[in-house]
Amino acid sequence: KDRGLGRGGYLHLFQDFWCPPFCFQGVINFQNHFLAKDNDVFVASFPKSGTTWLKALTFVIVNHQRFPSFEHHPLLSSNPHELVSFPEFILSHNLDDQIISLSNMSEPRLLATHLPFPSLPESITKSNCKIIYICRNPFDTFVSAWEFFTKISSVSSPALTFEEAFEKYCNGIMGFGPWWSHMLGYWNESITRPNKVLFLKYEDLKEDAVFHVKRMVEFLDTPITQGEDSTAVIENIINLCRFEKMKDLEVNKSGVIDNIVEKKNFFRKGKIGDWINYFSPSMIEKLSKIIEEKLSGSGLSFKLHS
Ligand code: A3P
Repeated sequence: KDRGLGRGGYLHLFQDFWCPPFCFQGVINFQNHFLAKDNDVFVASFPKSGTTWLKALTFVIVNHQRFPSFEHHPLLSSNPHELVSFPEFILSHNLDDQIISLSNMSEPRLLATHLPFPSLPESITKSNCKIIYICRNPFDTFVSAWEFFTKISSVSSPALTFEEAFEKYCNGIMGFGPWWSHMLGYWNESITRPNKVLFLKYEDLKEDAVFHVKRMVEFLDTPITQGEDSTAVIENIINLCRFEKMKDLEVNKSGVIDNIVEKKNFFRKGKIGDWINYFSPSMIEKLSKIIEEKLSGSGLSFKLHS
């Protein structure tokens, strides 16, 4: 048990990852009771790496036939976290009811997870369901996480200082971390099973959304182009999920998710390289060394500036 960035402040080392206690039972229930269907789609991520954006994009792609209109789309009136749930969170309570509602979801089901690859329920790894993973450069991820968990901290779980949180992060202590094993688990899987896991980076999506959203559409084998100009559809999808647009929607300006997190906290700056305003030279050196050491030989690297 240790303190680190995560909901509730305290984290427990469980199955080699730092689990926030609020979803501990949910993780176990997810692992023991979830039955994947071959046409399920999962979005997976390390927290604060672009989960909200990926949920939005994938929701639009997967449901394009159900909701073809970009003017009257569910994303204009619901937050992506209301449209795409995390089983490890919702299965913490009312297990029987939640299992029933999961099995009654319209297909293809779209769900999300922060679990590291080795902790996914076996039925996900063994079935033909697909996983789209997003990660982000560890500098921006840390700043985004620190800002977010500071905002949602409370008297019962006070915020860590930037320096305290950074030390923990360098030791891998953040909810669902270590971040390096989280990324590498999905990275390696995307190399050995490219039809199972599509690996995306926040920075790439920012820089060439058209190219990477096309990759998502192809990976999911969605009939998005039937009778339509596929580039126009893809541009509409990207536009609907744009940071500025989503941040400005009334639905994302007030209200809470899971009774605790204000929706507006999911939209901060949405930039590459904001970390430069936070890190001291010694912190830059320390985190750069850790990135080099942990990712060396993997082929995984990140863009740190826009
Ligand atoms: P910043 O804190 O750097 O602004 P997650 O969704 O995994 O919690 O990640 C949150 C980060 O993604 C935040 O980064 C947030 O602003 C950014 N984000 C949210 N929606 C986005 C969108 N539609 N496009 C790009 N970035 C987005």
